[in-house]
Amino acid sequence: MKNRINDQLTLPCSAIIKNRLGKSAMSENMATRDYKCNAELVELYRRWSAGGAGLLITGNVMIDASALGEPSNVVMEKNKQDPFLKKWAQAGSQYDTHIWVQLNHPGKQSPKFLSKKPVAPSAIELNAPLNRMFNRPKELSETEIFDLIERFGTAAKMSKEAGFTGVQIHGAHGYLISQFLSPIHNQRHDKWGGSLENRMRFPVEVYHRIRSYVGPQFPVSIKLNSADFQRGGFTEDESIEVARTLSELGMDLIEISGGSYEAPEMMGVSKKKSTREREAYFLDYCEKIRMTVKTPLMLTGGFRTLKGMEETLESGACDMIGLGRSLAINPEFPNQLLSGSNIQSEVVPLTTGSKMLDQLVPLEITWYTEQLHRMGKGLDPKPNLGAKTSIVHTLFSLGIKNLKRVRG
Ligand SMILES: Cc1cc2nc3c(=O)[nH]c(=O)nc-3n(C[C@H](O)[C@H](O)[C@H](O)COP(=O)(O)O)c2cc1C
Repeated sequence: MKNRINDQLTLPCSAIIKNRLGKSAMSENMATRDYKCNAELVELYRRWSAGGAGLLITGNVMIDASALGEPSNVVMEKNKQDPFLKKWAQAGSQYDTHIWVQLNHPGKQSPKFLSKKPVAPSAIELNAPLNRMFNRPKELSETEIFDLIERFGTAAKMSKEAGFTGVQIHGAHGYLISQFLSPIHNQRHDKWGGSLENRMRFPVEVYHRIRSYVGPQFPVSIKLNSADFQRGGFTEDESIEVARTLSELGMDLIEISGGSYEAPEMMGVSKKKSTREREAYFLDYCEKIRMTVKTPLMLTGGFRTLKGMEETLESGACDMIGLGRSLAINPEFPNQLLSGSNIQSEVVPLTTGSKMLDQLVPLEITWYTEQLHRMGKGLDPKPNLGAKTSIVHTLFSLGIKNLKRVRG
């Protein structure tokens, strides 16, 4: 019997995705010193494309070289005419796979060692203890806002020209767009803040500019938070309203996630019992948004079993299943699922064994990033990699990279 994950999906722009499995964005942190794409990224996406998913979304690619989220992000403007950008797109689009570039600006979520003065909708710092690692941002002027909208547009244009088959706006996880949407982080009194209509103006304008550059037949998607999970923050009702607006404007796919650095719900740390009990973290919200929004939905976070994926697609709550960490330790997972195998993802919560160390280090990021780096080198992932070993490796590579930057 053919499962639902094997079905094709036709997007509003008429592009076809060959099945219902999408690799969600995972920042590779693998660019060259001058933020360019390289052979390792090409190898990683060759591997994922062979793994069977219908859609691969790249890790976040920055739209502004002066605003980085991590030291080795790819920056689109640094890759003009670079042959590796085309090779990246080719590697990821083999086997009829879609490969979309996730476009991002981190706003205030740019660490101190990368940004002395990050920018944000308002000059509000992140909560303690994060304010030790991130500087208080400067409020964006209106001219700067228009410049960033244009940058999203030109980065999308470059993605299309290089051969990528779509783009995704990163509107989730507390980065710049999600800061605009949040009543906590956006306290502006001009047309970019205040009412929800004003707070969503920035993503709406970004969407319009991208669409004007890529045309009506090129997939444009957004990753959106179901909520910020903070008192006084962006709520589910507001998120549904934003999704409805973007859907009516012609968005091709909305990926549902949630949380931020301050409340990292996207990694499955929910305090809500009902969330913990369901395989997919944001399923309750997805069921609600489905009632109002016609745009295809991809739900990401927590999927581990074929049964969980099939039941969710069968219920109609979403149209695509987003998979992150499972594909970092098993790039063949989509093929195994598509063949009907009752395989279960090997993703389990990580710990160093020390509660204090677990709170200090973003282990879910460092450990999985190391798996991506292994695949980039042509090696297999190593699911039994020690948590402490991965921290040592990350600190070492961060130290070397920053030393090189200081010198160079
Ligand atoms: C190493 C790593 C890097 C990530 N980088 C990004 C990113 O660049 N953009 C993004 O939208 N989400 C990012 N995420 C979140 C994933 O896309 C996904 O939402 C999350 O891992 C939950 O899905 P899962 O339970 O299938 O892993 C990252 C996750 C990991 C583990």
